[in-house]
Amino acid sequence: MNFMTRTFGGRQATRTAAVLQVQMQSATSNRAVADAPPATSLASDDSEVSFGPFRLIPSRRLLLHGDTPLRIGSRAYGVLLALVENAGQVVSKETLMLRAWGRVHVEECNLRTAIANLRRALKASTGHVYVATDQRRGYRFVAPVTFASVSALRRGLRTPLSKIVGRDDEIVRLLDDISCHRLITVVGPGGIGKTTVALSAGNLALSRKLISEAVLVDLSTVEDPNLVPDAIRVSLGIGRQTNDPIKDIETLLSNRRFLIVLDGCEKIVAAVADAAESVLAVAPNAKVLATSREPLRADGERIHRLGPLAMPDSSYLGSIQTQNFASVELFADRAAARVRGFELTEATAPIVARICRQLDGIPLAIELAASRLDAFDLPILTELLDGHFSLHMLGRVTALPRHRTLAASLDWSFDTLTDEESIVFRRLSVFQGPFGFDAAREIVSDDQLASGDVSSIIARLSAKSIISTGTGHAQGKHLLLSVTRTYALGKLEQSGEKNIVLERLARFREGMSKQDGIGA
Ligand SMILES: Nc1ncnc2c1ncn2[C@@H]1O[C@H](COP(=O)(O)OP(=O)(O)O)[C@@H](O)[C@H]1O
Ligand SMILES: [Mg+2]
Repeated sequence: MNFMTRTFGGRQATRTAAVLQVQMQSATSNRAVADAPPATSLASDDSEVSFGPFRLIPSRRLLLHGDTPLRIGSRAYGVLLALVENAGQVVSKETLMLRAWGRVHVEECNLRTAIANLRRALKASTGHVYVATDQRRGYRFVAPVTFASVSALRRGLRTPLSKIVGRDDEIVRLLDDISCHRLITVVGPGGIGKTTVALSAGNLALSRKLISEAVLVDLSTVEDPNLVPDAIRVSLGIGRQTNDPIKDIETLLSNRRFLIVLDGCEKIVAAVADAAESVLAVAPNAKVLATSREPLRADGERIHRLGPLAMPDSSYLGSIQTQNFASVELFADRAAARVRGFELTEATAPIVARICRQLDGIPLAIELAASRLDAFDLPILTELLDGHFSLHMLGRVTALPRHRTLAASLDWSFDTLTDEESIVFRRLSVFQGPFGFDAAREIVSDDQLASGDVSSIIARLSAKSIISTGTGHAQGKHLLLSVTRTYALGKLEQSGEKNIVLERLARFREGMSKQDGIGA
């Protein structure tokens, strides 16, 4: 039986019978909405959008809670539609007013009232928060949203539009993990390529028949940890059958060989660990592949750490052979897409190699830098990258908000830190190279932060992929990647502590041998 029919078709008749139109406030309001900029395909086709226990049928202007129509005003409805179309992203107040009132002039207080009505209606039914206010810029829909007609038909995972480089071995290793384990987490810093690698491995697992079906659940937009099981249910395209999402998932999955990709779990790891364990317990043939900056610490979890793309070291300077390194290949590929005629030559290759090193081989950083080639030529770009510029290079407007700049990516991690962790993080920025625990304890601790706590905080920062572990001669030490360090230095400056911490570092250097490898 077709997945879509099984999930939705059988219930369609009863549902439509019970359906009533959302109450319109007035006839003019219809005209006003029609005057607004055209909605995306949502308004024009018969697709159904689900979030939590709610379903929205845009073509009929209906909002249902289960099978019961919810009566919300047409302005609140217009606002809701604009928000779910852009779920996870801030929608400006102007856009919302235009969508709900068209060109009729209204004051901001009208929008606030519509938002309040909408929140009240959604919260009264579930107790959950769906609409967040975002720093006076606008509003954001914070629950996972599924476009039922699309997700129900999709058995595979999306494939990236751009070329993937340098991860063949990694993907094969991950495929091995998928064949032997039921819960695997790809762990690494933001922008390192976790989602890219997970989706590639998932698709390969499908084509090799290690699994029969796969679904992607974007958890990065889920702020309420209680909504994780529901997000999985929604992404599986399951309508709400019972009050228990896990029960509904059990019914659908039964013995099916599903791969559930839980993407972007870092902000709610504990809830994801719970949900993953519950799903695996009720679905004996299912597997979970998660991506997160931090391990879930779930039962039976297999961690797959992802490092940077291969980079040439400085001995390759001046050689076109650098193109054999994945980071250089990525830069060249994205640069050629941006600047007609861009090529790796004896002249450009060494500069590209330097840029890749400056950006620590992080694919997101490399893509962002390559996209700036329309404004700056290579030598200028590499100079700029030594400063704060690297943090604020703007990416594609269609990129995830947390991937639009490296600062946004780092903010995403920084937001998860406790006060103590953020103090240690910013103070560690005075180390230019790898550092050992002893040095860190000396420099970081003070009256407020006990020396004995520093090691465990560093271990936690390392688990969150905010600080990296050294390799080669720096084995057993830690370091901040250079863009991360620039970011952390900014935080140290803002805190007013920079001079004190630098003084401590100077004293430490005087008193100690160079055994900790402080590279300043
Ligand atoms: N191996 C790769 N080859 C090409 N592009 C990549 C590769 N890895 C990541 N990217 C690109 O870098 C960006 C960040 O990757 P993503 O997988 O979203 O990172 P993460 O999930 O770790 O935050 C995306 O635009 C992605 O297309
Ligand atoms: Mg990701």
